Amino acid sequence: MELKPFYPVSDKAKAHSYLSEHDYKQMYQQSIERPDEFWAEQANTFIDWYQPWEQVSKVDYHQAQIQWFAGAKLNVSYNCIDRHLPERASQTAIIFEGDEPGNSHHVSYQELSDQVNKFANVLKSRGVKKGDRVCIYMPMIVEVGYAMLACARIGAVHSVVFGGFSTESIKTRILDADCQVVITADQGMRGGKVIPLKDNVDAAVADCPNVHSVIVVERTGADVNWNPAIDVHYEQAMAQADSFCEPEIMDAEDPLFILYTSGSTGKPKGVLHTCGGYILYASMTHKYVFDYRDGEIYWCTADAGWITGHSYIFYGPLANGATTLVFEGVPTYPDASRFWQVIEEHKVNVFYTAPTAIRALMGLGDELVNKQDLSSLRLLGTVGEPINPEAWHWYYEVVGKNNCPIVDTWWQTETGGVLITTLPGSSGMKPGAAGLPFFGIKPAILDADGNELEGECRGRLVLTGSWPGQMRTVYGDQQRFYETYFSQYPGYYFAGDGAKRDKDGYYWIIGRIDDVLNVSGHRLGTAEIESALVLHPKVSEAAVVGYPHDIKGQGVYAYVTLMKGEQGDAGLDSELKDLVAKELGSFSKPDLLQWSPSLPKTRSGKIMRRILRKIAENELDNLGDTSTLADPGAVDELIENRLIR
Ligand code: WTA
Repeated sequence: MELKPFYPVSDKAKAHSYLSEHDYKQMYQQSIERPDEFWAEQANTFIDWYQPWEQVSKVDYHQAQIQWFAGAKLNVSYNCIDRHLPERASQTAIIFEGDEPGNSHHVSYQELSDQVNKFANVLKSRGVKKGDRVCIYMPMIVEVGYAMLACARIGAVHSVVFGGFSTESIKTRILDADCQVVITADQGMRGGKVIPLKDNVDAAVADCPNVHSVIVVERTGADVNWNPAIDVHYEQAMAQADSFCEPEIMDAEDPLFILYTSGSTGKPKGVLHTCGGYILYASMTHKYVFDYRDGEIYWCTADAGWITGHSYIFYGPLANGATTLVFEGVPTYPDASRFWQVIEEHKVNVFYTAPTAIRALMGLGDELVNKQDLSSLRLLGTVGEPINPEAWHWYYEVVGKNNCPIVDTWWQTETGGVLITTLPGSSGMKPGAAGLPFFGIKPAILDADGNELEGECRGRLVLTGSWPGQMRTVYGDQQRFYETYFSQYPGYYFAGDGAKRDKDGYYWIIGRIDDVLNVSGHRLGTAEIESALVLHPKVSEAAVVGYPHDIKGQGVYAYVTLMKGEQGDAGLDSELKDLVAKELGSFSKPDLLQWSPSLPKTRSGKIMRRILRKIAENELDNLGDTSTLADPGAVDELIENRLIR
């Protein structure tokens, strides 16, 4: 395989694209020089409003105050459904592909409309009204989309909790947002395995006294525990519901949803997005980043529990009247050709997935890909973590047959949509680089002291100025919003990533520079994993760091100090890993666990994570200054017993 550092825009991509290189430059310039004028124009192009805004933007990073289109009125579900009906009633909105091959069906925009309207009425019948929070804990079935849009229709604020999360995680999220209604399914099916969603919800809501309704969609038909006081049978309720529900008129700045994400400290943060700016940014980026054209089949493999599922399975594509594929399963079930079979079967044109999946499938050889007909593919995308050039090339050559541009999209839960990427028709690709800023986005790179660096450089990635899709606050904790993103480098939004910029202005994301891990594209807070470990009565202290992992990008490496007199062994090792899985979900489970009689600390008692990271990575040459350690001997012992050599 030839590894080229640069791939110019192909003639095919140019012909398909909305924007030439010249268009991109001109539009970008306008978006930076006259942002309010630019965004007003886009808002009128992409969104149907009931009433215009008073002011396009009002932003003060020193106060962490951000508003876009305040005073304007809209409804997001109207924009995703109703306005398409005159032209698209019979067009497929959603293609569902189930966990088992052969379980697939199409949902037209008319059907989507009927289901969402009915669901909205079901929610209303349970007393849900504008501003109420609703927790959604579901498998990847079409009803998760109905649930989100039904909330949007009546102005309720959804908080989707990933179906892989455990009881504890659901509980803390329900309580933090004071959700009074939970939408779930009897069970989930993923990779042939049953996920006891309803059981998990039952255990969670036992400690959530304000939850008055649990709406249960039937997925497997299993016999689940039923509490008639709060449980609502979805299918029965829908059968009685009216098929029209007047959309609630929302202010652009009314909340649309909360989505929890891990940070470097403390509990997960409830990232809050609002209606107007978010839907504009999601739909606009979906159109331009993927060069999406009417009639194309678009597939993003994310889960609705993450921001990628929100913006690029449901909100962005549906606002654009697209056909979006919802996949319930995993790439390796029933076998590792599943992705490629689904692409062939549904003639997918745009395919958007994560580097971790690409690396895992790459390791299984080219044959599984080559035996399917992937000629429908036009464009490929990646998201969630840096993609290594080898995986990029495999994706480009073997999956894309050297004929599909790749968009490597950098963004975050907090940003609502893609901020940095190449655009398929207007900028060439560099494997491993995310690329150039999207319209209205002004990235900058700072040194450790907060000075802006010029030209080619490497440092902390920040954003100057706002964009409509930016998060507005941490739910219930405006102070934390300010402190996390705006206090370290005043006047900037601090993303938490390190990056470099090359001579052509391309951004290369290096990875998190805080204590957040990125494991298979999932954001994990080290503090959360440590808190789970110390719940065990035999554990006195724990420190968690990441280490390079071939498939997952990063693996979880835990150093564990036991209580005096306790002995670490294989049994306790798996007990502790299972404890983390139980508390946080199995994707947070430590890969490696090292018994550590003591942890290296500064004299003021701070754990020296830098050193722990180096030991975990087996990078011993450059341990840095250990002279400030309280007990330098602790390090020798850790090195001696390290797990990667
Ligand atoms: C990382 C996912 C490199 C980054 C949309 C960011 C990436 C975090 C890329 C956000 C990319 C996301 N290249 N790194 N193309 N995309 N990241 O909130 O560290 O789940 O800060 O949002 O993922 O993860 P989140």
